[in-house]
Amino acid sequence: MILYQDGIFHLGTEHWSCLLRITAHGLPELIHYGAPVSTEDVQALSCKPGLGWGTSLLLDDKDTTSSPDFLPLAWSGNGRGDYRESSCELECNGIPLATQFRCLSHQIHSGIAPTQALPQALDGIETLEIILEQPENSLLLHLYWTVFPDALTRRTVLENTGEQTVCIHKLMSSCVDLPGRFEMTTLNGGWIAEAHKHVVPVGPTRVANESTTGFSSNRHNPGFLLSEPNATETCGQVYGFNLVYSGNHYSGVQRSLQGLNRVVQGISPNNFSKALNPGESFETPEAVLAWSNEGFGGLSHRMHNFINHHIVPKAWQFKERPVLYNSWEGCMFDFNQHRLLKLAKQAKELGCELFVLDDGWFGTRNDDTSGLGDYNINTKKLPKGLAGLARKIKAMDMEFGLWFEPESVNPESNLYRAHPDWALTDQLPPIMGRHQLLLDLTRPEVRDYIVDNVGSILDSAEISYVKWDMNRHSVALGDKAHEYILGLYDVLRRIFGPRPHVLLESCASGGNRFDLGMMTFSPQVWCSDNTDPVERLDIQEGLSYLYPLSVMGAHVSAAPHAQTLRATPLYTRANVSFFGILGYELDLEHLLPVEKKDIAAQISYYKEHRSIFQFGTFHRLNAEQGTAWQVSQHGMHLVGLFHRLIHAAPGYERLSARALDSRSTYQVTSRPQTLRVGPFGSLLSHVFPVSINPNGMVLRTADRHYAMKDGTQELFASGSALMSGWMLPPHFAGTGYDKDGRMQSDFGSNLFEIREVITREEL
Ligand code: GLA
Repeated sequence: MILYQDGIFHLGTEHWSCLLRITAHGLPELIHYGAPVSTEDVQALSCKPGLGWGTSLLLDDKDTTSSPDFLPLAWSGNGRGDYRESSCELECNGIPLATQFRCLSHQIHSGIAPTQALPQALDGIETLEIILEQPENSLLLHLYWTVFPDALTRRTVLENTGEQTVCIHKLMSSCVDLPGRFEMTTLNGGWIAEAHKHVVPVGPTRVANESTTGFSSNRHNPGFLLSEPNATETCGQVYGFNLVYSGNHYSGVQRSLQGLNRVVQGISPNNFSKALNPGESFETPEAVLAWSNEGFGGLSHRMHNFINHHIVPKAWQFKERPVLYNSWEGCMFDFNQHRLLKLAKQAKELGCELFVLDDGWFGTRNDDTSGLGDYNINTKKLPKGLAGLARKIKAMDMEFGLWFEPESVNPESNLYRAHPDWALTDQLPPIMGRHQLLLDLTRPEVRDYIVDNVGSILDSAEISYVKWDMNRHSVALGDKAHEYILGLYDVLRRIFGPRPHVLLESCASGGNRFDLGMMTFSPQVWCSDNTDPVERLDIQEGLSYLYPLSVMGAHVSAAPHAQTLRATPLYTRANVSFFGILGYELDLEHLLPVEKKDIAAQISYYKEHRSIFQFGTFHRLNAEQGTAWQVSQHGMHLVGLFHRLIHAAPGYERLSARALDSRSTYQVTSRPQTLRVGPFGSLLSHVFPVSINPNGMVLRTADRHYAMKDGTQELFASGSALMSGWMLPPHFAGTGYDKDGRMQSDFGSNLFEIREVITREEL
């Protein structure tokens, strides 16, 4: 809701409040953003800049409180006394403009105020529009604030009502000044190392979280957190920030001498410039802000709810996603219809519901050096075309999905030979990334080419899923980088708008475009090309701070792993991938019978609990050893415990669940898991009466068909006991086989079900 009373704007819901007022000099003052408060709290919460500070510039020479430098502002000017980070940088006739936008009027709209071309969050409750003006330059600035149950969004529109062109170098979506001491958590990395968490204290030196690759990037995810230094997973104030945008982004965070932390978010000003001609306006992407005083976990729940309800396309909200098989890691470019159908049959037998044909189905695409940009189906590989393949897969009672990389072109392609000028270049000789260039999506004819070709392929066969890939950085600077992203959104809207039944999974060399802009089209995103489960613990956990499990594509792949050479148990690969949208991406042909049996059981288990894994409430638990995650829905809680390296002489180990009813009774059962016998090698001689050759035929044959059962656990306990930590079965300690113990070596894991059986009142 939004109230306007006695000059105070009060925005908020039962979960949060934001208080604003306009100062005597027309500036928007942010009195409070955070805990739910009442409008009458203004007196208590507002800053008291009574004493003035030496060298400050004053907007009114007689009023020592009138320096904008000390006020908590919701929009900051330039060159007019606020020397903290500015929200905008403008220029006219080659001269930088001083800016001090002053309030002209305001309006309250029900629902959202629609954007012109950018994607935005849907189903907002109400929107406050504050219109500021700078009549000296005939400029109007519209600040939009939309209230959602769990979050507040902000965006800006600059309008040129004059007769001179104004150049925008920087225009932020949001600016807030928050009192307090904070640490900043960002998600950083690169290819196969996405979303690793980094924490820095917020101090007087500005911290910039920025992407300049043309895309939201695997280097610096646009989302970040500010937390009180003592915040934990369950306590303390944490703010979350994100941007509904897929291009170059920027967030600056800096603490002033007076203890206000300025946070600006928006399009990266790096090399940005946009000429705003008379009569034109420019809109920024929508920034998302959320707050919780229930620690990092509480903040994650706010962001997860917001994304599940307001970001992902309506047709896919809370719709269970299929278990998929993807051909990439198993086949790469080496396939034909026969091999694909054989894989599809095996995938179906294991329980997969969707068969995805990845790269290599068109043009001369037999490796990554050629063919991108062409859409002619490779009939050597697929003699019956995509329609024929899709039909056969449908006949197996599986859905069919297809990989595209429509934004790129290989110079070795018919498209490039016909239209070399369609490639996005600068004035210097072209430079390659994965042997490819980007297409210039700012050009309407290029967008039409993509829309027509992707659209007609989608209509030519029964295709119900698309993996939309993008594998190179941009060279576009200035507003061209932004125009590219607008072009991308236009293409996505035109292709998928009329085909809402097609499930879109966005991918960019893995998680190079894991952002809210893409998620308005794509309800799931490929987290990373790194599918090693131990690495995935960091990647998926990093993403979980800001994104729900329902958007995370997570696949089981082969071991040893192609990027780390690490051999991990199959059950751990599945246990990690359960916490997301489960898929399998490995060659099924040479799996051992015991592995096939395990995979079939994994898929059936996941399907049974799919709604909890995809849409349940997610918790990062405090594990005594390793990493632990929990998802909860309707009295059912699933807890994954993941170990890294094992140590000899292990101590007792307890695991504490969260969010149970302390008065209820729960049944805890661990999901049964099997252990391959082969890796036990010569150790088997200790438990068998006869000596076994660790490299011999007998063990190899046994390894194919027989697996040992790992110890399981079953117990009943109160929620209170389980939350304080229940004792786990003993870990193997070199003392022989214990059928009830955990016989797990490095990278072992367990999955526990905690089911509410009875409440104390019912006893
Ligand atoms: C990228 C993607 C992979 C796969 C390949 C195909 O690397 O991230 O998942 O689709 O392209 O070339």
